[in-house]
Amino acid sequence: MKVALIKDSKVYDNKLLGLTLRERIKKTLERAGFVVEFFNDGLTLREAESYLFILEPVLILERDLRLEGKKALISDNSLFGYLFEGDFRNFFSGDLLSAIERYISMNSIEKQEVWAVKVSEENLKKAEKLLLESLVKSEKTGLKPAYYDGVIARVVNRKISLRISKFLAGKNVTPNQITVFSFLLSLVAAMLYLINNYLATLVAGIIVQIHNILDCSDGEIARLKFMESSYGAWLDGVLDRYADFVIIFSITFSLSQLNQSYWILGFLAAFAALMIAYTGDKFVAAYKTTYKSKGIPITRDVRLFIIFLGSIFNQLAASLILIAVLGNAECLRRIFEIKVLNSETTTSKGWTTERRA
Ligand code: C5P
Ligand code: CA
Ligand code: CA
Repeated sequence: MKVALIKDSKVYDNKLLGLTLRERIKKTLERAGFVVEFFNDGLTLREAESYLFILEPVLILERDLRLEGKKALISDNSLFGYLFEGDFRNFFSGDLLSAIERYISMNSIEKQEVWAVKVSEENLKKAEKLLLESLVKSEKTGLKPAYYDGVIARVVNRKISLRISKFLAGKNVTPNQITVFSFLLSLVAAMLYLINNYLATLVAGIIVQIHNILDCSDGEIARLKFMESSYGAWLDGVLDRYADFVIIFSITFSLSQLNQSYWILGFLAAFAALMIAYTGDKFVAAYKTTYKSKGIPITRDVRLFIIFLGSIFNQLAASLILIAVLGNAECLRRIFEIKVLNSETTTSKGWTTERRA
């Protein structure tokens, strides 16, 4: 059994984005396999394979926390926590700090960077900002998603989706509700494209971009509220494929009123959209590691943005051409790239699958 002993503080009673700091630190450590206990004075130890002591109020931002071995946890160059093994009991005489000092001096303690911040009544706004930023699927946040954000998700969508998530944090909304709502928006956009006039196309394009942004919010809310689920992850991706298809289908249908050969273009664009997702997901399934593409940026966030721009400028055929050409080229490129990757990295150690439900 792993035991986390956290020195209690009034600061933990503060709410941060829907949950108290107490609930946040408890949930984070429980997910990492700890039995969590808050203590004031008179600390006694019990039998445990390892102890984690957190003596100063902190907000842990690292999501896939895996604390193993004798380690001191460091953030901003300051020590805030200590992970010690069962033999720590031999050093403990009732005085925690001197026990820790003796233990550190007798054992070589490896430092581990954990992205956590000290919290106080004064820096709650800053902590809130850091917590929001930790929800983004980028390498620096320590998340290990199937893939990291594409360029539009990073530069445009997350900027807005984080504000939406901040607003929704305290509300009674589930990630799956956002996923489904976002999908319904894509159906509305698809119907508007069928009307085939500029105003409807313009509105459809704006809805497509809102849909694009909400595709970031469902995951953020899931991570923020500790509500990630396998079904949610699956539904998120599956409804994306449907949304991609209905949007491209309805645009193609409208274009085909002018010229039947647009069906060929639409077919190629829809195939590209599906295959970009498939080649990425299949990589993750086969290699059990994050797929970091360094190829043509034509991920879903980018494709939807291209459709958004095409709608504004009334150039939807050009949007489909871009998606069809770049998407299929990128899939072919991946076939060769992954063959090379295969010989370089075959280890799947250290990889954790998506959050368990
Ligand atoms: O931020 P983004 O939506 O891209 O994150 C996707 C991840 O968020 C999924 O892999 C899953 O872990 C989580 N998620 C979830 N439930 C949802 C939507 C997303 O658990 N309804
Ligand atoms: Ca999503
Ligand atoms: Ca989605």
